[in-house]
Amino acid sequence: MTIVAHSIAEVRSAVIQWRAEGKSIGLVPTMGFLHEGHQSLIDQAVCDCDCVVVSVFVNPTQFGPGEDLESYPRDFDHDLALCQAAGAALVFHPDAEELYYPNRSTIIHMADLSEELCGKSRPIHFDGVCLIVAKLFNIVTPDRAYFGQKDAQQLLIIKRMVRDLNFPLEIVGCPIIRESDGLAKSSRNTYLSESERAAAVVLSQAIAQGHKLADSGERDPRAITAAMRTTIEREPLANIEYVEIVSQEHIKPLDGLIDQPILCAIAVRIGTTRLIDNFFFDPNA
Ligand code: PAF
Repeated sequence: MTIVAHSIAEVRSAVIQWRAEGKSIGLVPTMGFLHEGHQSLIDQAVCDCDCVVVSVFVNPTQFGPGEDLESYPRDFDHDLALCQAAGAALVFHPDAEELYYPNRSTIIHMADLSEELCGKSRPIHFDGVCLIVAKLFNIVTPDRAYFGQKDAQQLLIIKRMVRDLNFPLEIVGCPIIRESDGLAKSSRNTYLSESERAAAVVLSQAIAQGHKLADSGERDPRAITAAMRTTIEREPLANIEYVEIVSQEHIKPLDGLIDQPILCAIAVRIGTTRLIDNFFFDPNA
């Protein structure tokens, strides 16, 4: 049976009981409106851990002014059914008042790694993600926490935060789950009209093209991103925010050729919907 907890105290009491029974704990943090991408994280966590906590919370501190905090899709009944079917032990569904004191003063600022890619157009986003994820780590005290590679910059940032702040847990990155035409699964795909949904396939096409170029030996980042840009620009409904290759270690553009593990990431607006996609590549693998 899946426990539904709305308060921190309820989560803590379940955790105390599991620890007394010697059980390991996995955490899957989400903002709800769960799809097969989230399901794959929960499946992996259930496979690795005795007890899995899924948090469902649309975190206000990671949305900037004018972003989609109010309109972000929500369907808790569906989320709970998915978590139950997947074997989650507890679903944590707090409201904002439970997690954030009105006079809270503590921030976590992720320097360097948040300056490029999504951090350029969403300056407060990763500080908000770090704050909520750190709080969830303190509340749930998991042995492992699961994040999708779809949000690649987020994944690298959370790994860095865990290392820098000595959180005693392992971060498990899970592969991107795609629709049959290649579009990366995302809760925001529901914003797309029929014609926009058809156009959105251009993101995964550009990603596949860039990956193939890197796999076949191209080491000039500009050659790869230029080819990807040309593909995206052929789609009239697509507006590029960025197409970048950065080092995985610093999330900064490379000085020269690809000679270290890289992240190739794109953000593209299809109509008013901002979508992201990416691939990791290691030239020495
Ligand atoms: O990836 C997400 O859905 C969110 O950024 C996260 C990690 C749940 C924090 O709110």
